[in-house]
Amino acid sequence: MYDLFSRSINYLRISVTDRCNLRCTYCMPEVGVKSLPHQKILSFEEIVDVVSYGVGQGINKVRITGGEPLVRRDITRLVEMLSDVRGIKDLAMTTNGLLLGRYATSLAAAGLHRVNISLDTADPERFRSITRGGDIHEVFRGIEAADKAGLHPVKINCVIRETPDEPDALGVAAWGAARGYDVRFIHVMDLHAGSFSQVIGGDGGNCALCNRLRLTADGHLRPCLFSDTGFGVRELGVAEAFRLATEAKPACGSTNKTGAFYNIGG
Ligand code: 5AD
Ligand code: SF4
Repeated sequence: MYDLFSRSINYLRISVTDRCNLRCTYCMPEVGVKSLPHQKILSFEEIVDVVSYGVGQGINKVRITGGEPLVRRDITRLVEMLSDVRGIKDLAMTTNGLLLGRYATSLAAAGLHRVNISLDTADPERFRSITRGGDIHEVFRGIEAADKAGLHPVKINCVIRETPDEPDALGVAAWGAARGYDVRFIHVMDLHAGSFSQVIGGDGGNCALCNRLRLTADGHLRPCLFSDTGFGVRELGVAEAFRLATEAKPACGSTNKTGAFYNIGG
């Protein structure tokens, strides 16, 4: 499947919930986040329908995100259902890691290939402050559990303010290097202002090479993180939503005034 700029679209990111068990300062307000009502959230069957159709159109890479995907009830069952879809070469998840200690083994058994875990600092106090209350030791345990369960390569996503040389980022780089994890640095983005840049050590944020579509928890296929456009799979049907979303992929992102990371997925 190619878009209007001859980019091959083979990557679907699925936000399975807009909820999260943390409140990172750059992502969510401390209080007063409205969660989607249950009936607006796609069922696992609906998600699998979108993925199956997408695979027929050339999708071969799928990432489960959130919010925090591990707070969605029965998430391992979704992984199992997705791993039954033939043609997915890469089935990954982006998580904050808090619940990985509990789920890593069953996720691997269900067919998940690998995980990316968010870690913006290696310092417990700084972590508590950035996430508004999170316990970094749970994340450390989660990362170790993912490694033990064989969810390789374990990648660490570190959001930075300015440069990979700032103290928190250096701490994460050293922590990751000591344990053999890939660390990627992501400049903090501002959807409303349209500020974004390439992921350091990854391939996100490079519009010319963008190969992705995003499925929101409430069933909209979005052509670009930095755009307000979305096409509802319930309203339009999966095939039409796919066609329109692919066709609507802009040459480059601009701004997103209506969405947020926790409901579109990072
Ligand atoms: N800028 C960059 N990355 C962000 N994430 C959330 N909000 C932002 C932002 N403003 C990332 C998280 C995590 C994923 C859910 O999205 O760090 O890796
Ligand atoms: Fe939750 Fe991730 Fe947003 Fe932090 S960045 S509040 S862990 S969704």
